[in-house]
Amino acid sequence: MSQTKRKGFIFDLDGVIVDTAKYHFLAWKNLAESLGIDFTEAQNEQLKGVSRVRSLEKILSWGNKEIPSEEFDRLMAKKNVEYLLYIDQMTKAEILPDVERVLSFLEEQNQAIALGSASKNAQMILEKVGLYDKFHALVDGNNVSKAKPDPEVFLLGAEKLGVAPSNCIVFEDAIAGIQAANAAQMMSIGIGSPEVLGEANYVFNNFTDLSNEFLASIIAD
Ligand code: BG6
Ligand code: MG
Repeated sequence: MSQTKRKGFIFDLDGVIVDTAKYHFLAWKNLAESLGIDFTEAQNEQLKGVSRVRSLEKILSWGNKEIPSEEFDRLMAKKNVEYLLYIDQMTKAEILPDVERVLSFLEEQNQAIALGSASKNAQMILEKVGLYDKFHALVDGNNVSKAKPDPEVFLLGAEKLGVAPSNCIVFEDAIAGIQAANAAQMMSIGIGSPEVLGEANYVFNNFTDLSNEFLASIIAD
């Protein structure tokens, strides 16, 4: 009797499940400009997958600014308050194309599904767009001490799913995330541009380009 193999599929959140990069951009831009620092979309690209603390450190270094630690904490909180105003308006319509089809297929195939995100707002966002129940495990910025490209977030995800890292597959839009998946000895699938995500085992522009047949072949492998 053939038995379906159970693999662990670990999804990044921002830029993979929902397009929140635009909201991070708006909130960081307003904050940077209030400090007299220019902030471009190209710089925002460099913040993808990067923790909130590290993002502010980078912005301050781009502006050659040093600030006391209390001010640093105040600015991080301020950025998050603005970010949450955008998140509060989010609906199901902001789930990226074909994410729901992929999640449903994996569920039908009895696969283990986890979230592996740097965001401390991950659970709230998943609840907002109605996808929270689709995940068997959630690892986010509240659970890890080492940021991507460290593999901690994905290794913890595998552990929570009870699946060996070598049987896990990671979907990521950020180079730091692909590096983290590779360091965890997992299969890495980049969602985005092949130029940026060249270190991944596979790259697709989006989930629409990633078929159920491809997923079935990974499960059967
Ligand atoms: C990552 C985003 O998923 O989460 C980064 O790509 C963001 O841009 C990071 O800085 C932390 O998110 P949050 O929601 O905790 O500020
Ligand atoms: Mg991301």
